[in-house]
Amino acid sequence: MDLEFSDEQRMVRAAARRFVDREITPVIGEYDRTETFPKGVFVRLGHDGLLGGPIPMEYGGGGLDYVGYALLLEEIGRASSSFRSAVSVQISLVALSIFKWGTAEQKERYLPRLCRGEAIGCFGLTESEAGSDAAGVTTRAAQEGERWFLSGSKTFITNGGVADLALVIAQTDPEMGYKGLAAFLVEREESPFTAMPILGKLGLRASDTAEIIFERTDVPEKNLLGKVGEGFEVAMSALDQGRFSVAAGCVGTLEGCLEASVDYVKRRKQFGRAIGSFQLVQDMLARMKVDADAARFLVYRAALLKNKSIKDTVEVSIAKYFASEAALRAASDAVQLFGASGYLDEASVARYYRDAKAATIYEGTSQIQKLIIGHDLTGFRAFA
Ligand code: CAA
Repeated sequence: MDLEFSDEQRMVRAAARRFVDREITPVIGEYDRTETFPKGVFVRLGHDGLLGGPIPMEYGGGGLDYVGYALLLEEIGRASSSFRSAVSVQISLVALSIFKWGTAEQKERYLPRLCRGEAIGCFGLTESEAGSDAAGVTTRAAQEGERWFLSGSKTFITNGGVADLALVIAQTDPEMGYKGLAAFLVEREESPFTAMPILGKLGLRASDTAEIIFERTDVPEKNLLGKVGEGFEVAMSALDQGRFSVAAGCVGTLEGCLEASVDYVKRRKQFGRAIGSFQLVQDMLARMKVDADAARFLVYRAALLKNKSIKDTVEVSIAKYFASEAALRAASDAVQLFGASGYLDEASVARYYRDAKAATIYEGTSQIQKLIIGHDLTGFRAFA
C-alpha cells in the first residue's frame, strides 16, 4: 500500500478544498439554519468538474481512482455532511449504479448529465416499513406491455425534493420476495412523481430530504436498470458504494473536529493557561487523532479494493461502522471542549455533532454493519 498521494490525488484534494472554502464554508451555516439545500452550489460543483467522481471520462466523469474520490468526499465532509450527503447520493448511489448496471444507452443518456450537475439524482430504496429490512420493499411495479406502473412511496430520500432522476427499487411480484425486486430509472419530467419535504431533522438540515410518492407512475421498459429480479443486488451494490462515501465523509468530519478543537484549546484560557495544556483535554484530542487516522486507513483499504474491482462489502461495512461512530465520538468531544459556546446552533462543532449522528443511521445503521461483519465471520445470517 502506497502511503504517498499521487499528483492527481493531490490535485483533486486541492480543487475540492478551494471549492469548499469559496462556496460552502461561508454559506453553509445559513442554509443549515433555514433547512434549505444549496442547490445552486451543488450545480456549480458539477460545472467545476467535481461531480464526476470515479465515472470514466468518456461519460463526462472525473475518472478518479477511489483514493482520489475519498479525498474529495473528505474535503466536502469537513465542511458539511449535508452537502456531502447530496454528493454521495449523486455519484455513489446513482451514477455508479448506472455505470455498473446500465445499458450503453442508459449510461450515455444519464451519466454526463449527472456528472455535470445538469440532473440531480436520488436513490429510492427506504420505505416506512422497509428500512433495515431493505428486502421488504412494497412499492409495486406492474408491467403492462412495454410500460411499468409504479405505485407506493419512499421515505427519507436524500435529494428527493430536487431530483430529476430517481433510482427506485420496486417489487414486481410479492410472492418472489427479494428475488422479485427490480430497479427503475424514473425521470421526473417524463414520469412525474410527488415529493413531500421532510423537515425538523436533528441534523443534516442543509440536505434535501423528502418522501417521494408514485401513483401509477408510468415508466418505459427501457428505464429498467438491470433485469427484473436483480433489484436487491442493484440496491446492495449501490450501498457498497454509498457506505464507502459516508465513511470517507466521516473522515472529513473527524478532521474538522480535530482542526476546530486544536485551534480552540490553544486559544481558550482557564486557570491562567491554555486549556490545551490540561491532560484531560489532550486525552480527548489524542483519541480524536487516532480515530481520524484509523478511519482514514480503513477507507483507503476499501478504496484500494474498489480500484481493483474486488468485492469489498465487508471492508466497506467496517469502514462505515468505525468512521461514523468515531465521527460521532469526536463531535461529542469537540462540543465538550468548546463548552457552552460549542452548544450553540451556529457553532461548527454543534453542527458536526448533529450531523454525525445521521452517519450512524443512514445507508445502513451501525447495527446492520456489525451484522454484515458478523455474517462474514461466522457464516450465520442474523435474518432468515
Ligand atoms: N452485493 C451484491 N449482492 C448482495 C450484497 C451485496 N453487497 N449483499 C447481499 N447480496 C445478495 C446476497 O448474495 C443474496 O443473494 P443470493 O440469495 O442469490 O445468495 C441476497 O442479496 C440476499 O442477501 P442476504 O441474505 O444477506 O440479505 P439479508 O436480508 O439477510 O440482509 C441486509 C441484507 C444486509 C440486512 C440488507 O438488507 C441491508 O443492508 N439493510 C440495510 C439497508 C440500508 O442500508 N438502507 C439504507 C437505505 S439508503 C439511504 O440511507 C437513503 C439515502 O437517501 C441516503
